[in-house]
Amino acid sequence: MHDRTKTLFIETVGCQMNVLDSELVVGSLRREGYELVHDATAADVILFNTCSVRAHAEEKIYSALGRLRRHKRENPEVVLGVLGCMAQKDQEEVRRRAPHVDMVVGTGQLARVPELVEEVQRTREPQYALSLGRADGGKHEVTASFESFDPPRDASMRPTPFQAYVRIQIGCDKFCTYCVVPATRGPEQSRHPDHIVAECRQLAGEGCKEVTLIGQTVNSYKFDHGDGRRSRLSDLISRIHDIPGIERIKFVTNFPKDMTDDLLDAVRELPKAVKYLHVPVQSGCDDVLKRMKRLYTVGSYRDMLHRSREKVPGVAISSDFIVGFCGESEKSFHKTMDLVQESKFKNSFIFKYSPRPGTKADDLHADDIPEEVKKRRNNDLLAVQNLNSLEDHKRRIGSTVEVLIEGPSKVGERQPAGVRQLTGRTMTDHIVVFDGHDRLIGQTLKVHIREASPFTLYGVAETGEVGGGGLIPRSAVMDPSSQRRGLPLLS
Ligand code: 5AD
Ligand code: SF4
Repeated sequence: MHDRTKTLFIETVGCQMNVLDSELVVGSLRREGYELVHDATAADVILFNTCSVRAHAEEKIYSALGRLRRHKRENPEVVLGVLGCMAQKDQEEVRRRAPHVDMVVGTGQLARVPELVEEVQRTREPQYALSLGRADGGKHEVTASFESFDPPRDASMRPTPFQAYVRIQIGCDKFCTYCVVPATRGPEQSRHPDHIVAECRQLAGEGCKEVTLIGQTVNSYKFDHGDGRRSRLSDLISRIHDIPGIERIKFVTNFPKDMTDDLLDAVRELPKAVKYLHVPVQSGCDDVLKRMKRLYTVGSYRDMLHRSREKVPGVAISSDFIVGFCGESEKSFHKTMDLVQESKFKNSFIFKYSPRPGTKADDLHADDIPEEVKKRRNNDLLAVQNLNSLEDHKRRIGSTVEVLIEGPSKVGERQPAGVRQLTGRTMTDHIVVFDGHDRLIGQTLKVHIREASPFTLYGVAETGEVGGGGLIPRSAVMDPSSQRRGLPLLS
């Protein structure tokens, strides 16, 4: 039908789960002959893979859809699709606010994207593919309507061929009162360990060195084999550990209550397991945690931190916080400040509470903390965290660390290819930048740390191959944007 290459544009917001979903959607459309382009207006198919965790993420998508209204009117043959969390949660609203959208596809239906694109092109009729809402059927029915979408991988679709996300679990059954995820991603389901191991084996065969196992509460992973055997996350990590070629195994995001000793033992014992745990606490006040229905107390979280550090010496731990949650008094907030001060997290992701329609918190409690107060608390908490991060980083000056080199840093991206500023991560997930040749990308290298900012370690590669004299460009100092790719998963 087409005498030219079919083109596809996709914008992804949100967590690693969305990044992986987009990778897989792009892979499936590439198999249909589509090529990725970076300009929406040059594409035959325009997709938005969306996030509903905070209102801001949704508004960004509605604005982007609004900007495309005229383009769509002038180019009616273009297919415009909304995928993911917003699609699953708000199909009606998407239809109302963006009637020019042709396709609304929920998180559990992404495997159908190629077929739906074709259907829109054939019929010019809008297409909708959604899983059941949590209250729209029995547990089994609802669960079955969320399909795990894990087709054969296409290495060329990943930002770096030597790193990959691997889904081990979908959905969430924790129902924290502020959170949309149990609605947008459906019931918790753990994938069969044999399938996960097979995927990791395939990835390793394609040159992948680092796998990041992802799940909303990844450490709650459990698979019942039906014959009395059960696989836990620790069992899974041990099996992946045996795969030749895999050098690093990470997992995100952890739920505090499920940080079991067998998992901590595996992280300590298995050399390929990254010594880094992301364990969101959300608040340092028991009353707030109770209203959030987080199922643990600050005391038990402290015990978990202590146990983790005792069992895995040198482990780096990071956290998430929500400030300005319903009824968070100054006293509650100060308890959170104290927790951050004493806990020495490697880093923290801090969010202002965003009431989400349909959640328990939104139904039961007023969003009673003014925006300026949320902002101030956000800044105050960040200031304490940044001091701790700087202190942690400064302690590493003079040490030599093993860095898996991911690519040019933000500064390096503006430098000509060859010897330029590169970035990578240590076994404790610390970001390191240094000067090196592009051919080192994808390799693990020893780097001597010379300088530190709250976000980054600056070093010199210990190799004859580097070139560039190991100079640290001052302009590189403080590059918070390199701190993270996408948001952490929730937990
Ligand atoms: N408002 C603000 N932050 C939220 N998060 C989840 N839901 C909300 C909300 N309604 C934060 C939590 C979670 C992180 C990924 O997003 O801190 O761990
Ligand atoms: Fe589940 Fe995490 Fe959301 Fe809680 S915050 S409901 S654990 S995804």
